[in-house]
Amino acid sequence: MIRVLFNKKGGVGKSSLSVNLAAIAAHRGLKTLIVDLDTQCNSTAYLDAQKEQDKNTIADLFEQTITFHLHRRHAKEFCQTTDVKNLDIIAGSPRLAELESELDSRHKIYKLKEALTSLSEDYDRIFIDTAPALNFYSMSALIAAKRCLIPIDCDDFARQGLYSLQQKIAEIREDHNDELEVEGIIANQYMSNANLPKQIVEELIAENYPVLPQYISQSVKMRESHQAKKPLIKLAPNHKLTQSLVGIFDILEQ
Ligand SMILES: Nc1ncnc2c1ncn2[C@@H]1O[C@H](COP(=O)(O)OP(=O)(O)OP(=O)(O)O)[C@@H](O)[C@H]1O
Ligand SMILES: [Mg+2]
Repeated sequence: MIRVLFNKKGGVGKSSLSVNLAAIAAHRGLKTLIVDLDTQCNSTAYLDAQKEQDKNTIADLFEQTITFHLHRRHAKEFCQTTDVKNLDIIAGSPRLAELESELDSRHKIYKLKEALTSLSEDYDRIFIDTAPALNFYSMSALIAAKRCLIPIDCDDFARQGLYSLQQKIAEIREDHNDELEVEGIIANQYMSNANLPKQIVEELIAENYPVLPQYISQSVKMRESHQAKKPLIKLAPNHKLTQSLVGIFDILEQ
């Protein structure tokens, strides 16, 4: 099962949720892979997997599709282990930015799908973290994935992008990937004691947006987890924030 976390809006929790949901899947004993498609490499840093010198990043995987190689390396060779049992990563790289226009002009938009499909025997779950832009890489991810999760940060701008995002996803479904479905909108940084987040989520539900019934509260534990480079299921398994992420995972898997 391949899932992409996507929202053009920045800072909504794509990386935090990708890593934590992937770590929960791994904790449940599922062989899990996270793919970091963002030049910021936040999920790679979160899992302490920055090994640029190894030539095993996602940029190296894409690069071999536009350079001549006698021996093309299998996607499995780009998967690194992490400190979390059952959780591997294809690390991000800032070099994705340099490669983007050439990959795009040479129509390499299906290469990620091919690579991840070739890993279907190796992994039970794949989570793709994307940049806050509808660029070549997030398009590739939306073509490769079966399900799309859309985190929002419950502020007023969050709603504005959702309509165009849903239209774009419908277009990708029609043109490239008829299996793609929006699995849910995740209300992140939800403050239950403030009125605005509640109002925004209620409006989205009234407009039939598929907001998942478990909200993720704002908690300093998330930042502590980034700093410790440990997903919450390892750092603080009983914390309320962790339990809400487990709640999301259970909804997705039921
Ligand atoms: N539930 C939460 N509680 C507190 N802080 C959070 C929560 N979720 C995310 N954050 C913080 O918000 C910031 C943005 O989160 P994150 O990097 O996961 O978002 P993103 O959508 O991946 O951002 P970008 O678009 O830049 O890739 C980070 O500093 C993160 O620690
Ligand atoms: Mg991110």
